[in-house]
Amino acid sequence: MEIIKTVEDLVARREELEGVYQTIGFVPTMGALHKGHISLVEKSVKESDYTIVSVFVNPKQFNEQSDFDNYPVNYSSDLKLLEYSGCDMVFMPKSDDIYSDYDGFEIDFGGLDKVYEGEFRPGHFQGVVDVVYRLFDLVKPQKSYFGQKDFQQLAIIKRLVSEANLKIEIVSCPIVREDSGLAMSSRNERLSNENRLVASEIYREMQVVATEMKIGDSTSLFAERFNSRMEKIDVMKPEYCIFCHPDSLQKIKKVEKNTVLVMCVAVLCTNVRLIDNIILVF
Ligand code: PAF
Repeated sequence: MEIIKTVEDLVARREELEGVYQTIGFVPTMGALHKGHISLVEKSVKESDYTIVSVFVNPKQFNEQSDFDNYPVNYSSDLKLLEYSGCDMVFMPKSDDIYSDYDGFEIDFGGLDKVYEGEFRPGHFQGVVDVVYRLFDLVKPQKSYFGQKDFQQLAIIKRLVSEANLKIEIVSCPIVREDSGLAMSSRNERLSNENRLVASEIYREMQVVATEMKIGDSTSLFAERFNSRMEKIDVMKPEYCIFCHPDSLQKIKKVEKNTVLVMCVAVLCTNVRLIDNIILVF
């Protein structure tokens, strides 16, 4: 597995790869890799001729300095996992190298950045778009792999690709869960063992909704019930629970026949912010 640390080396190596491989698969990450990330890498390895993974904790997408400072970093374990998963190249740039001659990339988000996560983390999605556009431009992949756990991010990346007219197929990959049902996330590392178990209540309650919700129901009653169940647990504080359209992310108030909707939630477990979602088909 090749390890590339500078933009200059990546550009040179990418030129050499041109014409040698037809499909370059790309998985952007912020490191602290877990099985969820590895499932994306494995999918890329299976579907592409050559897989590049970036490991870069992007400062621009953290709206709170403390969140950035506390973001888990574990490069040696990341490299072992990537080597084992069949990744061909890891790109691990420094922030100055990414941003020294690049200010960012503007798109019309069509409002996708203002709701849910955007409301609680102002500027976050602009930071994501800035780095992903830059990485796409350097890596020049044919396919790029993103997890469905960050559902809103996925919708925004698809919008970036269409707004910037990029010829990149965005492949969305299912959420990988711990045995308890808790969605895998690098942030889970910051939970105590006890809270990790408590946090699995998030998915359990989402499954209750999936079982009970039916055509004709008002979604707000389910959202209220989810939030009040979370509030009853000492260490949990719900931020939002919404039911929305999978592409437009517009809120859906009433469950109609033949519709797909996504239940997206964000809950603070002590000071660790956890997000999750499930797709409901009626
Ligand atoms: O999902 C993430 O880990 C990040 O938002 C991404 C896409 C790697 C951009 O920094």
